[in-house]
Amino acid sequence: MSLSIRGLAKRYGDAAVFSQVSLDVAPGEFVAIVGESGVGKSTLLNCMAGLDHWDEGTVTLNGADLGAMSEDQRALLRRRHVGFVFQAFHVLPHLDVAQNVALPLLLLGQPDDGRVQAMLAAVGLAGLGQRLPQQLSGGQLQRVAIARALVHSPGLLLADEPTGNLDPATAARVMDALLAQTREQGASLVLVTHSQAAASCADRVLQLRAEGIQPNVRP
Ligand SMILES: Nc1ncnc2c1ncn2[C@@H]1O[C@H](COP(=O)(O)OP(=O)(O)O)[C@@H](O)[C@H]1O
Ligand SMILES: [Mg+2]
Repeated sequence: MSLSIRGLAKRYGDAAVFSQVSLDVAPGEFVAIVGESGVGKSTLLNCMAGLDHWDEGTVTLNGADLGAMSEDQRALLRRRHVGFVFQAFHVLPHLDVAQNVALPLLLLGQPDDGRVQAMLAAVGLAGLGQRLPQQLSGGQLQRVAIARALVHSPGLLLADEPTGNLDPATAARVMDALLAQTREQGASLVLVTHSQAAASCADRVLQLRAEGIQPNVRP
């Protein structure tokens, strides 16, 4: 899925978060975004999915202008074509692992047809489908979130510091699972991260600043 952002600006009242943000993500491309805390990385990811509003500029997914769509149209586009992984896993505690992963299919009215078990196996969680989230480690929970984000084969995966709560060894395993599955499906990936190791896997690294977004130059 292609993503194109032109001249994006976000403000809260008189306080500008960022302005003049322009970037393109090609189908199947992996772009990492770095930047200081509070600079608006999460806000930018939310704008990419039409989950947040912006004050200037355009966000276009596969040629469709998100700003010109109704809330309902945006919700439908998101449900079909976008997957999310967050820092705090956001796995539903009262559903078992397989039910959590099946949620996007349920929302789309699509049958499971083995995709849930296949995704669990792909992220190294085969046999754990009946467990409740409280019976899993942090690294396993994040792999549940990755399986859930990709089970409906979205064209675009947005990941917001997905390894931020994990120790380095676990983070590496989670990134491996995330990358392998994203590549396998040919999805585009936009990853916000503080991890040098995670960013080094990307096709491109961009740095977000208040006055725009630029290729990251390592110090
Ligand atoms: N509802 C809000 N009202 C005012 N400011 C907000 C609100 N939500 C977020 N912000 C501000 O927007 C900025 C960007 O936040 P965020 O996107 O979470 O940054 P990052 O993910 O880069 O740490 C922060 O400075 C934050 O304080
Ligand atoms: Mg953030």
